[in-house]
Amino acid sequence: MLLRQIHLILVFILLDPVNIFRLWWLKGNPLLMDPNSICRKTRRLGLRQAELCQSQPEIVHEVAKGARLAIRECQHQLRLHHWNCTSQRKSLGKILQQDIRETAFVNAITAAGVVHAVTQACSQGELLQCGCVTAHGSPADALALERHGQVPKTQDGRWEWGGCGDDVDFGYEKSRQFVDSRRRRGKSDIRTLIDLHNNEAGRLVVKNNMRMECKCHGLSGSCSLRSCWRKMPLFREVGNHLMQSFRTAVRVMGGNDGKSLIPVGDDITPLDASSLIYSAESPDFCLANRRAGSDGTRGRLCSSSETGPGSCQSLCCGRGHADQTLEYEDNCTCQFHWCCVVQCQRCTVKKNVSICL
Ligand SMILES: *[C@@H]1O[C@H](CO)[C@@H](O)[C@H](O)[C@H]1NC(C)=O
Ligand SMILES: *[C@@H]1O[C@H](CO)[C@@H](O)[C@H](O)[C@H]1NC(C)=O
Ligand SMILES: *[C@@H]1O[C@H](CO)[C@@H](O)[C@H](O)[C@H]1NC(C)=O
Repeated sequence: MLLRQIHLILVFILLDPVNIFRLWWLKGNPLLMDPNSICRKTRRLGLRQAELCQSQPEIVHEVAKGARLAIRECQHQLRLHHWNCTSQRKSLGKILQQDIRETAFVNAITAAGVVHAVTQACSQGELLQCGCVTAHGSPADALALERHGQVPKTQDGRWEWGGCGDDVDFGYEKSRQFVDSRRRRGKSDIRTLIDLHNNEAGRLVVKNNMRMECKCHGLSGSCSLRSCWRKMPLFREVGNHLMQSFRTAVRVMGGNDGKSLIPVGDDITPLDASSLIYSAESPDFCLANRRAGSDGTRGRLCSSSETGPGSCQSLCCGRGHADQTLEYEDNCTCQFHWCCVVQCQRCTVKKNVSICL
C-alpha cells in the first residue's frame, strides 16, 4: 500500500511539481488514485500533461513504475546519508522544491527510472507503441566491443544483430515528454534549466551504458554464429553511476543572459552533459526542519564500530548514540525437503544496534 502511494505521489511530482504540491496540501490525500484518475485530475488542473495523459494512459502507468523504481534505488544509494531519500511525502516534496545536490539526484534518477521502465515495458511486449529493436552497427563496432570483452569470441567471428534489443530511444523520448514538460511558473528560469539538465543527465546514464548480450548458435554449441542485441544496464548500475555524479556534482549559477549556467567554486570542474548540477548548498539534515524537508537523524540506526558514512559518528552529528538490543522473530534452521519445500523454525533473534540520539 505504501509503495503504491509513493508511486502515485511521484506521478504527481513528475507531472508538475508546482501543482502537485498545491493539490497535496489542499486536498488531503489525492494519492490513492489510479492512473486514470490522475489523468482526470491533471485535466482539471489544466496541465500541459493532460493531453499526454489522455492519449497515452498505458505510458502513464509505466512512468509511475519508473518513478517507483527510481525512489527505491535512491533509498538504496542514500541509505547511509543524513537525508536518505525517505519516502515520507513531505520530505521528498520539500527537497524537490529546492535546488540542492539532493534535488539534482532525485530528478536525475527519476528521469532515468522512467527511461528504464518504459523501455523495459517495450521489450516485454506490454506496450502497443513499441517493442524490441534490432540494433544497427558496423562489424567495426562489434570488433571494438569484442576487444572490450563484451562479446564472446567465435572461432570464425561470424555474428549478426538479432534477438530482442531494448528500444532505449523510445523510453528516452517518453521520459523527455513526461518528465521535462513542466510548467515554468513558480520556478525561475535558472532553476528550470538546472532541472532539465539533471533530468537529461539521468537519461544519458541509461543510454550511454547499453550492454551487448549475445547468444551462440550452431551445432552442439559450436557457436559458429552468434546473434547479439543491446540491453540496458541494470538499474542498480544506473544508480551507482548517478551516485558518482552526486559526489562530484557541480555548483552553478546563472549567467547574465539568463540562459546559461556557469560553474562556481574553487576547483571548477568543466560542465558536461552528464554532470549533476545544483545552485544551493545542502543543509546538513542533522536536525528536523520541515521547511528544508529534513526529518533529522535522531532515531537512525548507525554503526558504532565503523567510521565513515553510516557510522554513528557521521550519522548522529555529534549528538552521540544509544546501544539497544532488538528482539525479533526470524526464520531459522531452515531445511529443504524434496521437492520443493523449505521448512523453517521461528526463533527469537537478538541483535545489538546503535541508534542516534
Ligand atoms: C531514513 O530516515 C528517516 C528519517 O530520518 C528514518 O525514519 C528512516 O528509518 C530512515 N530509513 C532507513 C532505511 O534508514
Ligand atoms: C520466513 O518463512 C516464511 C515461510 O516459511 C516466509 O513467508 C517469510 O518471508 C520468511 N521470513 C523471512 C524474514 O525470511
Ligand atoms: C549484545 O551486547 C551485550 C552487552 O552489551 C552482549 O553481552 C551480547 O553478547 C551482545 N550480543 C550480540 C549478539 O552481539
